Amino acid sequence: MALPAWLADAVLYQIYPQSYADSNGDGIGDLNGIESKLDYLAWLGVNTVWLNPCFASPMRDAGYDVSDYYAIDPRYGSRDDLSKLVDSASRKGIRILLDLVAGHTSDQHEWFVRSADDPNDHRYIWADRQDPGFQPSPGTRDGFYLPNFFPVQPALNFGYARMDPSEPWRQSVDAAGPRENRQALRDIMDYWLQTGVAGFRVDMASSLVKDDPGKNETAALWTDLRGWLDHAHPKAALLSEWAQPQVSVPSGFHADFFLHFGNSQAFRSLFHNGAVYDDTYRPRPCFFDPSGAGTGADFLAEWATATSVIGHSGHIVLPTANHDFPRLVAGSRTEEQARAALVFILTWPTLPAIYYGDEIGMQFQPGLPDFEGSVLGPPRVGYNRAGSRTPMQWDADDPEVTYLPPHPSPERPNVAAQQADPESTLNLVRSLIALRKSSPALGTSGAVEILNPGYPFVYRRGDEFTVAVNPSFTPATPEVLVSGELVLGRGATVEDGQLHMDSFSYAVYRD
Ligand code: NOJ
Ligand code: CA
Repeated sequence: MALPAWLADAVLYQIYPQSYADSNGDGIGDLNGIESKLDYLAWLGVNTVWLNPCFASPMRDAGYDVSDYYAIDPRYGSRDDLSKLVDSASRKGIRILLDLVAGHTSDQHEWFVRSADDPNDHRYIWADRQDPGFQPSPGTRDGFYLPNFFPVQPALNFGYARMDPSEPWRQSVDAAGPRENRQALRDIMDYWLQTGVAGFRVDMASSLVKDDPGKNETAALWTDLRGWLDHAHPKAALLSEWAQPQVSVPSGFHADFFLHFGNSQAFRSLFHNGAVYDDTYRPRPCFFDPSGAGTGADFLAEWATATSVIGHSGHIVLPTANHDFPRLVAGSRTEEQARAALVFILTWPTLPAIYYGDEIGMQFQPGLPDFEGSVLGPPRVGYNRAGSRTPMQWDADDPEVTYLPPHPSPERPNVAAQQADPESTLNLVRSLIALRKSSPALGTSGAVEILNPGYPFVYRRGDEFTVAVNPSFTPATPEVLVSGELVLGRGATVEDGQLHMDSFSYAVYRD
């Protein structure tokens, strides 16, 4: 199975289209707006943009409820605008990935509207009684459908991994409905890849086949699709929202994200804890908590397991945040404190993914209204994702996007001010990206060796770089000798080879 060569050098940047840049003054970000910011993205140095869903949608889950996979939602523009964006981006060396919502559609999608009226249609999962989780038919069909996320998102039928006589509606993965849905996925991917997009981030990639505890049938589905992709579009990349690279990559994905959900503690143990996101990581503060009471051990153990399974067959993506969970600057974590995390992510052998705005230290904004399905219901009652979806802060006084309220403080970080300030978070991120791009040792293929697993976290990249980050308030003098020149850093000193790290410090040395 081929791995598109460009992916190894990808520096990802996630754009939430409605919140990024507005080209026509209606207050909602759009594709032409994104196109107008390509110079900025090229200046920053990112080379792969992942767009959250921009397909036609009633926006009951901000576009993750697709009503037509072949149409761009009018609020974002048209297919031509997307082609134009893809072309202009490619001239600047930037690839565009779309978000493929594979497991469900909107309840307004014509497939579902038809299915709700036709008892012989099996594109969705229909039960003859209302089992827990099933929803009443909105059409003339008798029965109850299975949602995949919110009730407005009926699950596409990819079959069940096993039959159960007490649930006679279960179909096998080879039944006609599941076969049609698999073909539909292929057709959608083919269509957009022909438009020139570089690949997809696949939403809820592990959710397709139901009652599939070992995920074998879900894996088989993706392996099959990957086989087709390798042949039809060998340069395309498939990234999964699965959060288990050791399972998703062998199933056919080129890369998978470490994320904030599931059994994995790798991501939560680094960046999130009870302070900012209630029920995700309780055992202790996260590693990038200023208390210095976290541990990197969970992350390192999972990293070691996942990389030993996937070897060179795929990558792990570490995002700064995304549209579903708090930004790096959230709760009590300040922009200054978040810098150590940015240094870590951009010097680790991961595919780094910057969530728009995190490059300037945009803040998670609590207390916003529930907007376009932003609030997650049980079991996370009350967690509002809108706080991570606020308008990109381009300059001090012109929040061109008004889709959600801009940050209330006039002190809010913004691109214009930070571009002008060589000491800004933005210029730090830019320098880190430039350094990574010019130094293979810092990329995905460079070796990594841990010199100090605690505070500060110190590691070697290749035979060339020593990276040290101290996200803690407490200064530290680890038993690590450092030689070489300081490439970038703050609050780190070396005396007679002995490294000393102040609170919230970071440094990259080159031999
Ligand atoms: C994961 C997406 O990231 C999230 O925003 C969405 O609500 C769910 N999947 C459902 O599609
Ligand atoms: Ca607009």
